[in-house]
Amino acid sequence: MKTKIIFGIIYLCLKVNVFSQDLDPRIEQKVDSVLSLMTMDEKIGQLNQLNGFWDATGPIPEEGQSLNKYNQLKAGLIGSMLNVKGVKEVRELQKIAVEQTRLGIPLIFGFDLIHGYKTITPIPLAEVSSWDMELIRKSAAMAAEEATAAGVNWAFGPMVDVSSDARWGRVMEGVGEDPYLASLVASARVIGYQGENLDRTNTLLACPKHYAGYGFAESGKDYNTVSIDDYTLHNFVMPPFKAAIDAGAMSIMTSFNVIQGVPATANNYLINEKLKKDWGFKGIVLSDWGSIAEMITHGFSPNPIHATRHAFLAGTDVDMEASFYANHLKDLNTQNIVSTAKIDESVKRVLRVKFQLGLFDDPYLYCDETREEQIILSKENRDLVLEVALNSIVLLKNDTNLLPLTGDKKIALIGPLAKDKNIPLGNWSLAADSDSAVSIYEGFKNLNINFEYAKGVNLVNKKVSFPFATHLNITNTEGIEEAVALAKKSDVVVLAVGEDAFQTGEGRSQSEIQLPGLQRALIEAVSAVNANIILVTQSGRPLDLSWENEHVKSIVHAWHLGTESGNAITKVLTGEFNPSGKLPMSFPRAVGQLPIYYNKYKTGRPSDPGNDIVFWSHFTDVEEGPLFPFGYGLNYSNIKIENVKLSKIKIKEGDSIKIEVTIKNHSKVQGSEVVQLYIQDLYSRYVRPIKELKDFEKVRKELSCYLLAFL
Ligand code: GLC
Repeated sequence: MKTKIIFGIIYLCLKVNVFSQDLDPRIEQKVDSVLSLMTMDEKIGQLNQLNGFWDATGPIPEEGQSLNKYNQLKAGLIGSMLNVKGVKEVRELQKIAVEQTRLGIPLIFGFDLIHGYKTITPIPLAEVSSWDMELIRKSAAMAAEEATAAGVNWAFGPMVDVSSDARWGRVMEGVGEDPYLASLVASARVIGYQGENLDRTNTLLACPKHYAGYGFAESGKDYNTVSIDDYTLHNFVMPPFKAAIDAGAMSIMTSFNVIQGVPATANNYLINEKLKKDWGFKGIVLSDWGSIAEMITHGFSPNPIHATRHAFLAGTDVDMEASFYANHLKDLNTQNIVSTAKIDESVKRVLRVKFQLGLFDDPYLYCDETREEQIILSKENRDLVLEVALNSIVLLKNDTNLLPLTGDKKIALIGPLAKDKNIPLGNWSLAADSDSAVSIYEGFKNLNINFEYAKGVNLVNKKVSFPFATHLNITNTEGIEEAVALAKKSDVVVLAVGEDAFQTGEGRSQSEIQLPGLQRALIEAVSAVNANIILVTQSGRPLDLSWENEHVKSIVHAWHLGTESGNAITKVLTGEFNPSGKLPMSFPRAVGQLPIYYNKYKTGRPSDPGNDIVFWSHFTDVEEGPLFPFGYGLNYSNIKIENVKLSKIKIKEGDSIKIEVTIKNHSKVQGSEVVQLYIQDLYSRYVRPIKELKDFEKVRKELSCYLLAFL
């Protein structure tokens, strides 16, 4: 198979700008007419978002605990709600807003649609490993199909926080370490959620988050201080948000952290200057859960009045769960500290989106019980999720080609994640049915694989669920003996290990990123009696697999792959699907290397392993560089990138270069390759990374593609 790729360094956006931030005059007219009817209380009500009566996804701030939501609803003092799901519940609350309030302004219903609704997709970081933007868009569109069928019309996603620190629990819901790849993913997900038109029953409002800098929390500790310079802010943090806004996102969520000492929720530069003025953003700026109240905790505001004033005047339009706007904005207006015009501007943003969603035409547009029955968990959705999962798996090691498994081998399936049907659902799976993932064990059965099973050890001492912490302290090793006995009589051992879905995600940062609990003891015992070990790791973050890499022959990284996890893993292990995933985040050799990323600066004493004096940038106790780098992933073929040709070796500004490569498969095993184009700016007023991803193409057997170059 020979495929020629002509690459380009393309400065033009590759994505389709389905949406823009341009306003529709017809909608603006309607917005103005509704606004003219509203009292100040009703206006402020539109800026107030409260949690539903069921799941909570954050701590309820003291003042935000409202015990009489129904009365507030009936008085038109709530504009949107979150964590209300299911047509029945949505319809019940919408009915109050539409039929029992003076103006009947409909509610919007938000939900953390991070990786699927009931048909759970691979976690976002896994999906990025596919490097397939169309697949990522489809995945978001499928999630929107299901969530809207359940009455939800505001996705609190995509999360587009670039991060290179695997200690941070929320890397699982993000976009990896590279701003270019992250920007394309952000666009794909926004377009997947919002579709061609927001007023379709199967599209919903996207909400890129968390604006901004959240992924740079010091030591990867969630909610921790973020102190980054402007250069990092604009070169690493902002690009995916800009891409999401350019793709037409009509809401955005602020982050909990401070940026240059000012809480993001009250950061005038970020919101009014950059987002609303420079980028022309016309949608809703939503705070994160109680983040306006947390401005007091941060030590930025002495009291709720101050916090309300600064968050609102900085440009945060809607208050999630703090009730500060509900309780204090009117006084600030009466005292002429916050003008009516400023309040109107925010209310118009909310009304605009409600018109775009079609809610004024039909407030029950998303309340269709038939759709809810037919769409959710459909075979079509599961087939798509399987396709996404297959493309998200990354083959990290395959010495002696132990993989793919062949039918003549006696296989032992061992490990705490072999039979688990919950962990693969990942961290943000609030709407999923428990135990609804296909386990590896079931995947093996589905493909009639000849195997025996032993658990070995438990992963955690008790099943945990949202939002409780995970406690490891397991000491029970009795299962190891049975696992060793099984390994002894088997030809190959598939070891299913990893981390619990609630050892990753929000509020779950870790100081260690090795396999938790007794899993290494299990691997040690099994590898002592059988050298043919295939490690299948499932996690929400990059793990420190240095020790494992020395003790096993193959490593398949499967992230948390969602509903079809076991089928996808099995199809890869048996070669029914040739793995094609590439890492979106570097896997370190040791946690002490973090943050670690490929697009680093050279420094004045660059890493130079060949240098035997100490005066260069390195650690004395660990080999330089990641264990597995960004963009890395193996397959079962033997695909080479050859004959790299440049049309020129020198250009001036405005010129273009064509870079032509040949992709050759030197094996008979069909497969795909992600051809990646990096550039380096050798000298610059501000130093540039040693390399920067600027283009890529996932080449499959039937695809020959030519990307013309524009420079
Ligand atoms: C959480 C998260 C945010 C989420 C929101 C609502 O604390 O930070 O990502 O969308 O609250 O659940």
